Amino acid sequence: MGREFIARVKVDGRRFTITSEREYPGHLIAFVHPRRRHDRGRLGRLIHGASADDDLTEMRFKITDSPTGRHGLVTNIAVAHRKRHQGWATSLVRVLLQRYPGVVWTVENPNEKSGQLFVKLANQHPGRVLPPVVNTRYAGDDPRRYGTFLRP
Ligand SMILES: CC(C)(COP(=O)(O)OP(=O)(O)OC[C@H]1O[C@@H](n2cnc3c(N)ncnc32)[C@H](O)[C@@H]1OP(=O)(O)O)[C@@H](O)C(=O)NCCC(=O)NCCS
Repeated sequence: MGREFIARVKVDGRRFTITSEREYPGHLIAFVHPRRRHDRGRLGRLIHGASADDDLTEMRFKITDSPTGRHGLVTNIAVAHRKRHQGWATSLVRVLLQRYPGVVWTVENPNEKSGQLFVKLANQHPGRVLPPVVNTRYAGDDPRRYGTFLRP
């Protein structure tokens, strides 16, 4: 099944596209990608300005409706190497905050990088982003250090 277009969203001066993977009552599974830039080539034809590396920047998420509200889970987030530390992951999550105002977000199976990203986002957007559980008994590279926030 192909991906269905949901929306174009502009955040932090960057343009993104949201596409759905699956949608059924109470559930949406979807992706956010940076929009491909189109540049004019030497012959005036439109060519793809985005490199293959840009394709590596993507975020997958789920939204689940439940009696306690709409819960959002980022199930995967990756930024192309050459784009890292420029706020792209932050912008990807902000796309969700802008497009889905009633949803509270958290991250699935965070590692050190995405764990820190969500700690920071939870401080910036209290009530909209839940911080991961950080177990400081374990070192930064230990997979047991970060856990997904479990709702009661
Ligand atoms: C995690 C990842 C998506 C972050 O992307 P990014 O665009 O570089 O992140 P940002 O520039 O938006 O950084 C935002 C915050 O994330 C955290 N962060 C980002 N890279 C980090 C790193 N290497 N170590 C620790 N924290 C990091 C920091 O809190 C950072 O805030 P700061 O810049 O004020 O310190 C990127 O490093 C990546 O693709 N990693 C490989 C895939 C991966 O591990 N994904 C997570 C598991 S699904």
